[in-house]
Amino acid sequence: MQAAEAPAQAAPCRSCRAVEFLESSIGKKIMVALAGLFLCVFLLTHLAGNLILFLGGPAFDRYAQMLESNPLLPLAESGLVILFLIHIALAVRARLANMAARPVAYQVYKGKDARTPGSSTMALTGTLVLVFIIIHVATIKFQVGGAKGPDLFGHVTGWFHNPLYAGFYVVALIGVGLHLSHGVQSAFQTLGINHPRYTPMLKKLGAAFAILIALGFISIPIYFGFFNRAPATMQTNGSAMPIGPIGGAQ
Ligand code: HEM
Repeated sequence: MQAAEAPAQAAPCRSCRAVEFLESSIGKKIMVALAGLFLCVFLLTHLAGNLILFLGGPAFDRYAQMLESNPLLPLAESGLVILFLIHIALAVRARLANMAARPVAYQVYKGKDARTPGSSTMALTGTLVLVFIIIHVATIKFQVGGAKGPDLFGHVTGWFHNPLYAGFYVVALIGVGLHLSHGVQSAFQTLGINHPRYTPMLKKLGAAFAILIALGFISIPIYFGFFNRAPATMQTNGSAMPIGPIGGAQ
């Protein structure tokens, strides 16, 4: 009698492998790390653009107009939304899976370098950053509430003249700094960029990046909220004419 032939194994389809990868805990971590690092590039360019606020209304509004007229802007904005969604959704799912697998946190001494203010507050600072982004995009980009400025410079600086709004930015941006202080070096580790010689350097680089981003952004609400409260029209070379359309700066 002939042995029954084993049924041929169907080759796993590509999309099934992608779903399997995203369902695995390492797959989620890798995607969170990659999306996080791309978001860091956005933060750096966003900071560089916003520092132009210090050069005054005409310079900032010219910059806003230049961005607005770039045909690639809608593509970049969609990419940004997708990156934020991937980063947040997969980080939350990884966290929940972790908590389900280990409902009671280990009480193990992990060495003096194991816990940092950044690493022990990732969920808290992540939530703060999310709340910040919702309020920031609603008020600055979609102009919900507040006085509408004559141009983007007037609109942004006008918001910062409200000390509560400026104070909230300072607190939220400290949260951004703390989140980055652990996030950047943790992303490198997740991606396997781990070497006794380079890891300490990457940790320092991550910390320096976090400080640069946090202090760079914080300087804006502090300056326009507490030091320079002149109306925007006084800062546009004396011209009271609106310069450029509202919207468009990154
Ligand atoms: C003092 C700090 C900041 C200032 C002055 C600032 C200013 C701006 C401005 C002027 C816009 C463009 C509004 C428009 O297109 O009409 C914008 C958009 C945006 N900002 Fe900020 N920003 C700051 C910090 C941040 C931080 C820390 C984040 C992220 C954690 C962030 C995320 C975004 C996002 C996601 C958008 C929408 C981008 C788009 O769809 O075009 N911003 N911001």
